[in-house]
Amino acid sequence: MSSQVNSGKDARTAIVTGAGMGAGGLGRSIASRLVEEGMNVLLADADPSVEQAARELNERLGVSGGERITHFTGDLSQENAVQAMVAHAVACFGTVDVLVNNAGGGIIRPFLEHDAESLQITLARNLWTTIWCCHKALPLMVAQNHGRIINIGADSLRTGIPNHAAYNAAKGGVVGLTVGLARDWAHLDITVNTVSPCAINSGRLRARLESEPALAKAFLNVIPKGRGAEVEEISDLVYFLSRKECSFITGQDFSINGGSAMP
Ligand SMILES: NC(=O)c1ccc[n+]([C@@H]2O[C@H](COP(=O)([O-])OP(=O)(O)OC[C@H]3O[C@@H](n4cnc5c(N)ncnc54)[C@H](O)[C@@H]3O)[C@@H](O)[C@H]2O)c1
Repeated sequence: MSSQVNSGKDARTAIVTGAGMGAGGLGRSIASRLVEEGMNVLLADADPSVEQAARELNERLGVSGGERITHFTGDLSQENAVQAMVAHAVACFGTVDVLVNNAGGGIIRPFLEHDAESLQITLARNLWTTIWCCHKALPLMVAQNHGRIINIGADSLRTGIPNHAAYNAAKGGVVGLTVGLARDWAHLDITVNTVSPCAINSGRLRARLESEPALAKAFLNVIPKGRGAEVEEISDLVYFLSRKECSFITGQDFSINGGSAMP
């Protein structure tokens, strides 16, 4: 049994984490794409700005009365908050078919300059959010024999760029979780994949490249395409992997990296 039937091309229900008004904007772009494809979408974030993100999406896409969009505010590295988020999705839409674990973000600094707090935050944002969301959404997916989980990783795992060791430890955990869950639930119509961007072409990145010419030069050396990924380019792959028809791709880590690392 999947979620309630709505008008639209794909009437399933998705949760997108990290969908607040953050500078990167990937979560909002993914949520927007899934709503455009017809899904019910719950946008979640620790930052209360997620309410504004949901409202703006509703206004822009004209989903009357917000009947296909809802939001949840909470720290998703905490089990109780994730339980409440999933319960909210079920109360609004009946179930969860698609889970996009996008909450995250790095504290990028030399490993020896990290302290206990910055390491814990790095793991909480990127790994614990993903662990708990999978842990609480999967039982619904198992019960209905259908689910698509897409975790947002990072291509720095492959390129090994400087100062990313702690972040890579967290995102490496995400890839490990992806592979393990994909294998464990392969006998059902459940897939689990990771989508790993190198750099997202956000306002934050553009400002840094302008103010730091040396960084911009290094950037061009690392990324053959010479630019960061547009959020829509990432959302496109996330949507592809979320489709019902996309049932044979599982346990994979897809780089969106402008050629930074090639097999
Ligand atoms: N920006 C990049 O260049 C880049 C590169 C590679 C990977 N990524 C990954 O892509 C994803 C999106 O990146 P972005 O740049 O759009 O980030 P962003 O900072 O704009 O958004 C991330 C969101 O996650 C939320 N979040 C963090 N911890 C949370 C928690 N415990 N509970 C709930 N929400 C929490 C934040 O509040 C924020 O709104 C992240 O997973 C990031 O690690 C980003």
